[in-house]
Amino acid sequence: MKKIVILILVFTSINTFSQKFEGLAETPPLGWNSWNTFATDINEQLVKDIADKFVELGLKEAGYEYIVLDDGWMAKERDTHGNLIADPIKFPSGMKALADYIHSKGLKFGLYNCAGSKTCAGYPGSRGFEYQDARSYASWDVDYLKYDWCNTDKLNAEGAYITMRDALKAAGRPVVFSICEWGDNEPWKWAKDVGHAWRVTGDIINCWDCEVGHGSWSSWGVWKIINMRKDIRKVAGPGHWNDFDMMEVGNGMADAEDRTHFAMWTMLTSPLIMGNDLRVASKETIKTLANKEVIAVNQDKLGIQGFRFSNEGDFEIWIKPLENDAWAITFVNMSDKPLSLNFDWEKHDIGDDVNGKRMEAKQQKFKIRDLFNHKNLGDTSKNLMAEIQSHDVLMVKLEKK
Ligand code: GLA
Repeated sequence: MKKIVILILVFTSINTFSQKFEGLAETPPLGWNSWNTFATDINEQLVKDIADKFVELGLKEAGYEYIVLDDGWMAKERDTHGNLIADPIKFPSGMKALADYIHSKGLKFGLYNCAGSKTCAGYPGSRGFEYQDARSYASWDVDYLKYDWCNTDKLNAEGAYITMRDALKAAGRPVVFSICEWGDNEPWKWAKDVGHAWRVTGDIINCWDCEVGHGSWSSWGVWKIINMRKDIRKVAGPGHWNDFDMMEVGNGMADAEDRTHFAMWTMLTSPLIMGNDLRVASKETIKTLANKEVIAVNQDKLGIQGFRFSNEGDFEIWIKPLENDAWAITFVNMSDKPLSLNFDWEKHDIGDDVNGKRMEAKQQKFKIRDLFNHKNLGDTSKNLMAEIQSHDVLMVKLEKK
């Protein structure tokens, strides 16, 4: 009897040490990350200013929560005990004080590290230090870890991410685990029980559809990223998301292109991680990023990733089933001229076979809401008519009448 009890205890403890934290990302995480604008040029004051801006600009109220420091927050070497330390010049008060500041605003704090021996920018990586690093994060009250894939030599990706997942679990503080191995090892096939989101491509860059080569790797524009991965929508869902990378909204594309980028990331149920300098963001940028009606599509409880319904002519049409038999539909003008949309609901059989959902526009009428302009556009008994500017978007929500 005693043996059985001991065995049960052993199995229970193994079990609790080998799972990710559940319930942390039931909808895609919303936040900000330093990399797209600042690369390694980050510091304590900047992060505090960003936290203040979350509140001042209504971003916190719109649902953004995580403030994540990417590469470059550490000192170049570990201390004599092998502990990671914050760069003492950039972060003189240390990570715990910064976490306290962010928490005092009702927000959450994230850090970056890497499965390899060094991070992509050459700072100490976690390889061989996973449990020790996880304990440091827990002692600083870290809520989110982005975990990269540089300098990993011949490491097995699934194994490396499981090791860090288990280390976080053992350290005991619930942490959103954001896998960043660029889709190289098809994480959508194995990461559901390992992390809460996984990057599906290499790094984003602030352009509509370009590729910028850097020798052995490239950065990808918004449409390159959207078009790169097929057939992976089935694996996204509450607690485990395809991550299309941190956003470039406000980083130099036209406002219309920013709207489309934002609409598409919400349709794709990607984490919505802002990547711009919030201290100097334009009104238009904040209007896009803080649009609660659009964010609600991303945060819909069903957590179904949207998909391309058609791309005939110059329009792309994307569809996402929502709770209560509602739908989000996004029309994108891919051309370089304004275009008139004339969409006949009865002529299109809108449905999602993967999730067994059909709109049945012939039998059922829906109210139409324009989510960017906050206007009601009648219902599906008439054709949907609209002028859409070049690279701009009409994003609507359809609710049963
Ligand atoms: C990789 C990641 C980026 C960023 C940098 C930091 O390229 O994909 O998102 O974290 O490393 O060095």
